[in-house]
Amino acid sequence: MAGRRHVLRLLWGSLLVPLCRAIAVPSSAPLSAALVDPSLLSVSLEFFAFPGYTTLAATSNCLANLATLRGAQPAIRIGGTTQDRATFYADLDEAVNYTVASPADAPDSLTFGPPFMALAAQLKGEVTLGLNRQLDNQSASLAAAALAKETMPNLFAVELGNEPEFYASNSPIIVDGGQGWNQNVDAASEKSWFETFSRSVGNIFQGAVTLSWSAGETLTLIGSDGAALLKSLSRHSYPQSACGGASTNLPSLMNHSGIVSYTRQYRTEAAQAHAASIKYFLGETNSATCGGGGISPTFGAALWIVDYVLQGALNGVDRLYFHQGTISDCAYCFWGQSSVFAPYYGAAFVSEFLGSNGVKAAMLDDGTGAIGVYAAFNASNSPVRLLIINTDYYSGTGTPATSVVTLSGAGSTDGTKLAKRMTAPDATSTSGVTIGGSASFAGTCARSGAQTMESVTVSGGTMSVSVRASEALIVFL
Ligand SMILES: *[C@@H]1O[C@H](CO)[C@@H](O)[C@H](O)[C@H]1NC(C)=O
Ligand SMILES: *[C@@H]1O[C@H](CO)[C@@H](O)[C@H](O)[C@H]1NC(C)=O
Ligand SMILES: *[C@@H]1O[C@H](CO)[C@@H](O)[C@H](O)[C@H]1NC(C)=O
Ligand SMILES: *[C@@H]1O[C@H](CO)[C@@H](O)[C@H](O)[C@H]1NC(C)=O
Repeated sequence: MAGRRHVLRLLWGSLLVPLCRAIAVPSSAPLSAALVDPSLLSVSLEFFAFPGYTTLAATSNCLANLATLRGAQPAIRIGGTTQDRATFYADLDEAVNYTVASPADAPDSLTFGPPFMALAAQLKGEVTLGLNRQLDNQSASLAAAALAKETMPNLFAVELGNEPEFYASNSPIIVDGGQGWNQNVDAASEKSWFETFSRSVGNIFQGAVTLSWSAGETLTLIGSDGAALLKSLSRHSYPQSACGGASTNLPSLMNHSGIVSYTRQYRTEAAQAHAASIKYFLGETNSATCGGGGISPTFGAALWIVDYVLQGALNGVDRLYFHQGTISDCAYCFWGQSSVFAPYYGAAFVSEFLGSNGVKAAMLDDGTGAIGVYAAFNASNSPVRLLIINTDYYSGTGTPATSVVTLSGAGSTDGTKLAKRMTAPDATSTSGVTIGGSASFAGTCARSGAQTMESVTVSGGTMSVSVRASEALIVFL
C-alpha cells in the first residue's frame, strides 16, 4: 500500500515538473516573506588567524564589495576552536603570540594582547568577540572583555566559550567545576560567567555557541533572567562533515529541496530567541566541518550559499556567519593570501539579489524541486528583484539540462527587463566563475572585467528565462 502510493507520487511529481516552473510573482510581499537583516550574510574569522586576516588586501576588499552590494557592512565574529585555547595577557604588546610546527597548523595554545582589540576596533561591521571559558581563567577573559568594551565602538557581543559540547573531559572548566559535563552543567556555567562579566561590561553576551546541542535548549536552561544578559543566541551549522576523512556529497549540498528541509530545523529556536527579544544567528557556519572537504571550494558550494542564506532568513535566522579558517589552508574560505575562491561569488550574488533596498524576501516555488525562485521586496513591499537558482547538479560531463521558468504577475508589464547570470563551467569548478558575463574578482578581491546584463522580454504579461543546471540568474524588475 505504502509502496504503491510512493510510486504514484513519483509519477505525479514528474508529470508536474513543467507546471511547477510557472511562477506567479505577487505584487506585494506575501505573509511567508521574511524581514532580512542588513548583515544577513556575515563572516566569522578563526580567532588565532584574525590578526593575519587584517593584513590581507582581500579581507577589506571582499567585505567592502559585499557592503556595496547590500548597502550594509557584513558583521564579523572573531572566534572558533582557538578562542578556547587563547589566554589574554594585558602586558603583551603583540596581537597574538604562538608557535606552530607548520604554517598550516592551528596552535594548541596561544596568548593575545591589547593590540588584538585595537585591530578588532578598526573593523567596519559589528563585531562579536569570542573569548575563552574552557581554560577556566575567568580573570584573563574578564580583562579581555573589559578592554574590548572600553576600546571597541563596534563591539556587538562577547562569547564565552566555543562548542562546549566538545570540551575534552580534562578541560579546566570541567575538572574545576567537579560536576561532570553535560548541557545542564554547561548552561549553569555559561549563566554564572555571564552574570559575573555583566557587572563589568553590561548585558552584551552571545549565548549557546553550540553545534550539536540545541541552542534553544540552552536558552531554556538559562531561564529568562539568563536571557536578559544576552544580545544574541548562536547555533553553529555545517550541513556536512569532512572530519577524519568523512565523505562529502556536492549534489546533496546544493540540492534546493534538501536546503529547504535542512534549514527548517532552526525555525523553532529562532522563534524562541525572538520571543526572548534577542537575535538568532548561525554564528559559525560553512559547508563541511573540520575546515571543509573537496566539495567546499567549488561553484556548487557558491550556489549552496545563495540558497542557504535565503532559507536561513525565511526560517528566522537573523545572520549567517560564514567561517574563515587558517589562511590559505581552508577549503571553504571566501579568500586567502592572494586568491578569491568560488564560494565568494555566491556571497556576492546573494548580496546583489538582496541589494541595498531589499527589506524582505520570499520563496515563490514550493520548495520541493531543484529550482528555487525568490523575490526581494523593498520598503514599500514591492517586488524589486527575482532570483532563479537551478540546483540540478551538472558535473561537466555531457550537455547540461536547461530549464525554462515562466514568470508572470507583478513587474511583468510588457517591455524589457535586465538580468544578470552567475555561472561556471560546471558545479565542480573551483575557477572560471563569472557574474554578468566576464566579471570576476582579482586576487585582492578587486572587481575585474565588465558585467554584462542580459535582456528579458516581457510579452503578454509573461517572461521566460532559461537557467541551466548549476547556474543562477537575477532579474531586475
Ligand atoms: C611568545 O610565546 C613564546 C612561547 O610560544 C614565548 O617563549 C615568548 O616569550 C612569547 N613572547 C612574548 C613577547 O611574550
Ligand atoms: C590566567 O591568565 C593570566 C594572564 O592573564 C595568567 O597570568 C595566569 O597565570 C592564568 N591563570 C591560570 C590559572 O592559568
Ligand atoms: C534532494 O533533497 C530531496 C529532499 O531532501 C531528496 O529527496 C533528494 O533525493 C535530494 N537529491 C539529491 C540529488 O541529493
Ligand atoms: C519600491 O519599488 C516600487 C516599484 O519599483 C517603487 O515604486 C517604490 O517607490 C519603491 N519604494 C521604495 C521605498 O523604494
